[in-house]
Amino acid sequence: MKIEISGKGGSGKSTLSVLMARSLAKLGYRVLLVDGDESNVGLENLVGITPPVHLLEYLGGKKGFKDKLNQQMMMDNPAGIFSGKQKIRDLPRECMASSDGVDLVIIGKIHHFGEGCACPIGILSKKFLSSIELGEKEIIVMDTEAGVEHFGRGIVGECDLVLGVIDPTAESFHLARKMEAMAVKANKELGFILNKVDPSIEPVMRRHLDEKKIIGAIPKDDLIFMESLEGRKLTKNLPEIDRICGRIMGGK
Ligand SMILES: Nc1ncnc2c1ncn2[C@@H]1O[C@H](COP(=O)(O)OP(=O)(O)O)[C@@H](O)[C@H]1O
Ligand SMILES: [Mg+2]
Repeated sequence: MKIEISGKGGSGKSTLSVLMARSLAKLGYRVLLVDGDESNVGLENLVGITPPVHLLEYLGGKKGFKDKLNQQMMMDNPAGIFSGKQKIRDLPRECMASSDGVDLVIIGKIHHFGEGCACPIGILSKKFLSSIELGEKEIIVMDTEAGVEHFGRGIVGECDLVLGVIDPTAESFHLARKMEAMAVKANKELGFILNKVDPSIEPVMRRHLDEKKIIGAIPKDDLIFMESLEGRKLTKNLPEIDRICGRIMGGK
């Protein structure tokens, strides 16, 4: 199963991607956590590892990747850039780093002022996701850039499930409605995870969303906040996360 984590900036996508990836690994799955956020860095800190070589850099940076794409188009030649079907075990070792049963892959980041648009990173994300053929007990969890850019780019089309992380803001409720409309168009399954919830606001949040789509609710937690503030590995084990993962994988 390929799961994409979506939501507004600051809603908790990266936090929940890491916690869910770990929880799924505990359930016995081989989990590939994909950092598909082209702007924000630091997912590796939350996982607690040294970052692997970014895929885009491995392919020669934006320029090298674009040249390879052009070559591929002209010669109808896969040129080794995720065109054919491949397994997780075939990925370049230097592009993966592991911790707690989770393998992290970083697609690529925007590094410099004026370096041009992020399209190559989007194209690479899409190619990467579509090219991987998962084994029976393998899962991809993809953390993404804020907003619905990845819907527009069609990256969502490569996933089996989109999870929208909804924090207690009107902006998140608005985005939830947008995600719903886009998921229908893309013919993708969509679920919502409420995040930073406390008992007094949970009913309000539920009122603004389609109850049938809510898979679970994660409490606001001081340890999560402090560890992420200090760029440390997340150590919190939340039963709510395990329940959500069990529910998603139920029967699979
Ligand atoms: N359940 C939670 N409890 C407390 N703080 C949280 C929780 N989830 C996320 N945060 C905090 O919210 C901020 C944004 O989280 P992050 O995962 O980086 O969001 P995103 O990836 O959606 O931009 C961080 O400071 C993080 O520690
Ligand atoms: Mg993030």
